[in-house]
Amino acid sequence: MSSSTQKEIKVGILGATGTVGQRFIQLLSTHPYFRLHALGASSRSAGQTYAAATKWKLATPIPEEVAGMVVSECDPSVEAFGECGVVFSGLDEKVGEIEDAFRRANLVVFSNAKNYRRDSLVPLIVPTVNPSHLSVVRAQQASLSLSKGYLVTNANCSTTCIVVPLRALELAFGPLKTVMVTTLQAISGAGYPGVSSLDILDNVVPYIGGEEEKIEWETNKILGGVTDGDDGFDLHAAGPGPINVSAHCNRVPVIDGHTACVSVAFQSGTKPSVEEVKKVLKGYKAEVVELGCPSAPKESIVLHEAQDRPQPRLDKDLYAGAAVHVGRVRECNVLDIKFVCMLDNVRLGAATSSVINAEYAVVKGFIQ
Ligand SMILES: NC(=O)c1ccc[n+]([C@@H]2O[C@H](COP(=O)([O-])OP(=O)(O)OC[C@H]3O[C@@H](n4cnc5c(N)ncnc54)[C@H](OP(=O)(O)O)[C@@H]3O)[C@@H](O)[C@H]2O)c1
Repeated sequence: MSSSTQKEIKVGILGATGTVGQRFIQLLSTHPYFRLHALGASSRSAGQTYAAATKWKLATPIPEEVAGMVVSECDPSVEAFGECGVVFSGLDEKVGEIEDAFRRANLVVFSNAKNYRRDSLVPLIVPTVNPSHLSVVRAQQASLSLSKGYLVTNANCSTTCIVVPLRALELAFGPLKTVMVTTLQAISGAGYPGVSSLDILDNVVPYIGGEEEKIEWETNKILGGVTDGDDGFDLHAAGPGPINVSAHCNRVPVIDGHTACVSVAFQSGTKPSVEEVKKVLKGYKAEVVELGCPSAPKESIVLHEAQDRPQPRLDKDLYAGAAVHVGRVRECNVLDIKFVCMLDNVRLGAATSSVINAEYAVVKGFIQ
């Protein structure tokens, strides 16, 4: 079924007033078949119109049809949420039990929080890498005796940035052995109000709590496979063992757009040439693009040849922030190959990934 013939599906947003929630609203207000129907946030916001409750930070205005909608508590018994075919969550990790309550109320939840990413029956999906992991939701439903509801997470934003080029390289040159990554992460990644201006202006903060561990662990679940019977995940089934990932994470004074400097070694011990690597990155085709998911970017990886690209300010908006940008591909004299990658941390790094994951679920019959 094409997106023009797909019937409309009502959707709700949890954490609608936050940084990720605002991107959800912007993306979904022009979506071909998802229709904004319910908005939820904390008790501080509940009962107010969306325009009054949110500190809107995007350059486009609040969509007219959303400004007057009344924000409710994040409670699955709210009638409007019960009518939704999909609930997107931009909720803080501190209130992870809310997402579980929505799932147990038989609602389909696409989450951005870290809480369930390591759950053995919850898919951790980067849409341009491993959407087929969605199949495990049937085992999740069986384990909780749910006929319709399930929960899917997307990855930490920096993990999303690196796994797209890593998947392309692994498919072409075989399993990865070692990945060394140093990130330069935007302040919007910390939500609103986030890092104080006195801490971040004219500065680099060489610590983001929990971030390095997320990159080191999530990479293996995403690049791994699902078990026979679709009832769990192999932590990196492509190789004889998990990939050794080592991360350094830094907060830098950029508003949107996380950059990562990555060095990679392959298990084969054979170094591909820089030209071979560039060809593979440029030619990478993601299933969600081939399937015509409406929010998927035309190119999952945009390869830059200019020596000083990618740059967050210049590159993050291409394809509505849904691509990973890769540049500075060169030989590594310690590992095999190195490059720089960048993504919009609030779009592909959060809201856009959830929306494409849900579009894939619609195409594959996981959402009615
Ligand atoms: N920002 C990014 O780049 C990014 C990227 C990937 C993943 N994430 C993840 O996405 C999630 C949201 O991040 P964010 O940056 O959007 O955070 P944020 O700007 O702080 O927004 C948090 C949202 O959660 C709501 N909320 C807070 N406490 C609540 C409660 N007790 N009950 C119901 N709602 C509550 C807030 O509502 P009120 O306005 O009413 O307080 C707000 O809508 C986090 O788990 C984060 O780790 C963020």
